[in-house]
Amino acid sequence: MNSVIELLRNRRSIRKYEDRPVEKEKIDTILQAALMAPSSKRCTPWHFIVVTDKEKLAMMSNSRTMGSAFVANAPAAILVLAEEAKSDVWVEDASIAATLMMVEANDMGLGCCWVQVRNRQKDEQTSTEDYLRSFLHFPENLKAECMIALGYKGEEKKPFDDEHILKDRVHYNDF
Ligand SMILES: Cc1cc2nc3c(=O)[nH]c(=O)nc-3n(C[C@H](O)[C@H](O)[C@H](O)COP(=O)(O)O)c2cc1C
Repeated sequence: MNSVIELLRNRRSIRKYEDRPVEKEKIDTILQAALMAPSSKRCTPWHFIVVTDKEKLAMMSNSRTMGSAFVANAPAAILVLAEEAKSDVWVEDASIAATLMMVEANDMGLGCCWVQVRNRQKDEQTSTEDYLRSFLHFPENLKAECMIALGYKGEEKKPFDDEHILKDRVHYNDF
């Protein structure tokens, strides 16, 4: 097991993956991390759709004009949804769950990348959310925050080094 700070130093967005599936046990562990996420008033508004079907992954890769193409070559992607009526801060609830999944995936040596869904369009007529709903069949009352594409790393990226950490963004007691 890594120390959390070392894990975060090494976490980078990985968009290239080896052509092999991620074991179900690993995906289950990633989902466990999400299901233990804190949520406002413990309202647990989230739902998750795990996609491993190659045709559906290819369709998901077309959900944006740019920024999602690499999903076609991911062995898995997890769509993060939340029930808006359960939480006035569902965006935060869903984002925290997604972030914990990324941390857990990295801890298990996998690579992953957030793909934004909320506030994004497939094209001028269709939101990314509605497009995904058309073939993943989640109900209208669930909003989509993001998808987390994941797999065994097919690229290496440099960890953070101290000079790239924006220490001047931290303020003590006064701005
Ligand atoms: C809210 C959010 C939305 C993002 N949306 C996308 C996206 O749609 N497509 C993509 O390839 N990367 C996306 N990313 C990944 C960022 O591009 C990435 O985190 C950033 O460039 C920093 O790189 P790093 O993660 O390797 O440190 C998103 C990240 C966040 C936090």
